[in-house]
Amino acid sequence: MFVKQLLPAVLAIGSAAAQTCTVSTTTVNSQAEATKLASCRTVKGSVVVGPLAGANIDISGPREITGDFSVLDNGILETFSSSSLTTVGGSFTMRNVTKLSSLSFSSLTSVRALSWQSVTNLNTFTLGPLSKADEVTISDTFLDALDGIDLAKVNKFDINNNRRLKKFTTKLASLSDNLNIQANGIGLEISLPNLIWIANMTIANVTKFQVPSLKVVNGSARFDSNYFESFAAPNLTHTESGDISFVGNGALNNMTFPKLTSIGGGLLIANNTGLDKVTYFSQLTDVGGAIKLRGNFTEVDFPKLNIVKGAFDVSSTGDITKSCETLQKAAPSAQGGDGRVEGTFSCTSNNDKANEDTNGQTSDSGNVDTGSGDKSSAAGLSFNAALLGLAAVAALASAL
Ligand SMILES: *[C@@H]1O[C@H](CO)[C@@H](O)[C@H](O)[C@H]1NC(C)=O
Ligand SMILES: *[C@@H]1O[C@H](CO)[C@@H](O)[C@H](O)[C@H]1NC(C)=O
Ligand SMILES: *[C@@H]1O[C@H](CO)[C@@H](O)[C@H](O)[C@H]1NC(C)=O
Ligand SMILES: *[C@@H]1O[C@H](CO)[C@@H](O)[C@H](O)[C@H]1NC(C)=O
Ligand SMILES: *[C@@H]1O[C@H](CO)[C@@H](O)[C@H](O)[C@H]1NC(C)=O
Ligand SMILES: *[C@@H]1O[C@H](CO)[C@@H](O)[C@H](O)[C@H]1NC(C)=O
Ligand SMILES: *[C@@H]1O[C@H](CO)[C@@H](O)[C@H](O)[C@H]1NC(C)=O
Ligand SMILES: *[C@@H]1O[C@H](CO)[C@@H](O)[C@H](O)[C@H]1NC(C)=O
Repeated sequence: MFVKQLLPAVLAIGSAAAQTCTVSTTTVNSQAEATKLASCRTVKGSVVVGPLAGANIDISGPREITGDFSVLDNGILETFSSSSLTTVGGSFTMRNVTKLSSLSFSSLTSVRALSWQSVTNLNTFTLGPLSKADEVTISDTFLDALDGIDLAKVNKFDINNNRRLKKFTTKLASLSDNLNIQANGIGLEISLPNLIWIANMTIANVTKFQVPSLKVVNGSARFDSNYFESFAAPNLTHTESGDISFVGNGALNNMTFPKLTSIGGGLLIANNTGLDKVTYFSQLTDVGGAIKLRGNFTEVDFPKLNIVKGAFDVSSTGDITKSCETLQKAAPSAQGGDGRVEGTFSCTSNNDKANEDTNGQTSDSGNVDTGSGDKSSAAGLSFNAALLGLAAVAALASAL
């Protein structure tokens, strides 16, 4: 596995002055071995802190590790620090490091990836702060804040199972792959005041979620089992290719999407049992996938809808016959509408089981309750109903 280099041989190369020490992978097995790295300005290669290295390890001296820096399966380390390290060229990984409670890398500003998983006792850390990273994963820690992480842009950000985490505010402006936040502390408040564009996000178990500047979602935005009562994306104009979905957000009773004009994929709103209407998409004209709505609605309205490439499929526990009557005007011509909806149109009331259907698959039943509607003529219509768009499925899969 790890190739252990003899540190003295490495250090024999240069003087005590700033130098580059070349190793492929060096394993630090004690504080004495860590201290031997002090004269290296740059460690060219990877550094592993061995599982029996001791309770307190300080690696001060080096400013850069060009490869990876890792601590794995370590049940002894309690404090871990470096006052000098600014850059890790590879991944700064800690996994299954169960006694570590304090980490201080006060100069560290740049890593390719930061991955801390099952660092179950870690309750505080200091970083440079970290301002440059492609990927950050923080999972299963005892942290109540992530203050040392201050990135303006990142590819992937994954924060999960940090049971004490109550607040996360970041100046993040753009994220090019996926933001995943789930199963953290109850009451978690997320604030992304500067976020303007994001590829995908999967947000679950969050109490507050603020994205006042968000303009574009390139991929999909998915909100599951959150505790917020309202959701606002006041500046969101469109999703380029993915879905917007809200599933099982039991307290949700209000949404704000005043500028949203198009959704590249589908729209799924299901089992948000406190949501009694869906009248929040006043500017929405184009939907590239399907619209599927399930809930306790009494009113559903999409006043500007111009084109829905997939199905339009609404079912409520309540009576929405009046809404269905208006909505049906957009149904395919075969269902008596003007064809703005290209897939099957279905709109039904008084469905006790409406909240049980939370998947992305739309119904192809073509049922319509408009009071005056003829259900039987619609029921024979079979359309190969669009899935909401594969992105939602992919995001769900990656969250499992
Ligand atoms: C975690 O590390 C401990 C040693 O501290 C080891 O005994 C245990 O098997 C590791 N757990 C996993 C899941 O790898
Ligand atoms: C957290 O969200 C997930 C969905 O991603 C859900 O299955 C789970 O029940 C939620 N946990 C709590 C405690 O709400
Ligand atoms: C919302 O978008 C407008 C127009 O692009 C911009 O002027 C405004 O600053 C944005 N608001 C926020 C809070 O970012
Ligand atoms: C995402 O959208 C932004 C703004 O529309 C664009 O500049 C960027 O290239 C897109 N990125 C991807 C990965 O599609
Ligand atoms: C994120 O969004 C992009 C499009 O911007 C898509 O190609 C990619 O598959 C998505 N990734 C995940 C994990 O959903
Ligand atoms: C609907 O959401 C509630 C929580 O609000 C949850 O307990 C229930 O299991 C969800 N039902 C389905 C079918 O997902
Ligand atoms: C819903 O939210 C909007 C803006 O956030 C607010 O103006 C409105 O009063 C809210 N409506 C209800 C019923 O809470
Ligand atoms: C929503 O519908 C469920 C049945 O799916 C019902 O148990 C619940 O009382 C309803 N909630 C509200 C607020 O109407």
